Amino acid sequence: MEGVIDAPMRRLLTAIGGYDACVTEFLRLSDGELPAHTYHKHFPELAHDSQTAGGTPVILQLLGSEPELLAASAARAVALGAIAIDLNFGCPSRFVNRKQGGAALLKEPERMAQIVAAVRSALPAGIPVSAKMRLGYDTPDRAVDIALALEQAGTDFITVHARTRDDGYRAPARWELLRPIRESLTIPLVANGDINSVDDWRRCHEISGCEHVMLGRGALMQPDLALQLRAWHRDDEIEAMQWRDIQALLPILLEHYAPGTRGLCARIKQWLAMLRQRHAGAAATFDAIRTLKDTDSVLAVLAV
Ligand SMILES: Cc1cc2nc3c(=O)[nH]c(=O)nc-3n(C[C@H](O)[C@H](O)[C@H](O)COP(=O)(O)O)c2cc1C
Repeated sequence: MEGVIDAPMRRLLTAIGGYDACVTEFLRLSDGELPAHTYHKHFPELAHDSQTAGGTPVILQLLGSEPELLAASAARAVALGAIAIDLNFGCPSRFVNRKQGGAALLKEPERMAQIVAAVRSALPAGIPVSAKMRLGYDTPDRAVDIALALEQAGTDFITVHARTRDDGYRAPARWELLRPIRESLTIPLVANGDINSVDDWRRCHEISGCEHVMLGRGALMQPDLALQLRAWHRDDEIEAMQWRDIQALLPILLEHYAPGTRGLCARIKQWLAMLRQRHAGAAATFDAIRTLKDTDSVLAVLAV
């Protein structure tokens, strides 16, 4: 998730456990190919067999609208060590959409299919290519057709965020609209949107029929959510992390950044803003650090 789930956060969350894979923030291609160091900066796990420190595979997500550029960039990323490529057809940002990227492409399913086909044919057969889409731009009416076009173009699995671009991030996700997509596809469909608890997963599964799920904001609101889901699938039950356990993760996240990294206070505030939706203690901590501007002062508050 762009600006939120970067490499240090991927390391932290996957170390808690429960993930089969995770995805980088999107890497945007618009004005030509990117140099190798950009891939490494954005996706430092490249230097570690494309795995987080805990061993979870990391998928590189690319965003763009030019099939040849995306194909060449995917091939370059694979030459650098990427093990799977995901294509972003869901970003609702006006800036990205004005350049025909992200969710804007939902208005041009033929172009989406061209992108998938170009990327697929540029990569070795063993490298999975996946697509992340929304239900549509302003209407979900063409969701099944779009997903089928992506499947025919060669995508190995599709993740559908069960909202349109115009829905933004507002609840509720429309899980019922995932069922006809799943029933039309022969490849796996990964459900996404509003899965914030084990109970949400159960209801989403019942309504959509989807076996696979991608977590979004829920992973940030409840950092052990993936672990809880895995335990539930194994007929096990684990005690959910409470605020006191989660609070201890905040300084650990800061330690995962290279010394001198800028903007860390903002990162912590952003995460606390998500955590406080679930944990009252996070709201109090957020208030206590809201006006602080340096990480040492934040760490002093977190240590109390
Ligand atoms: C701040 C933010 C950044 C995001 N960045 C990305 C991204 O880079 N790539 C992507 O595929 N989805 C991105 N998303 C969308 C999420 O992956 C997910 O599809 C969406 O939040 C719906 O799931 P949720 O309701 O469980 O959060 C982002 C969402 C948010 C809120």
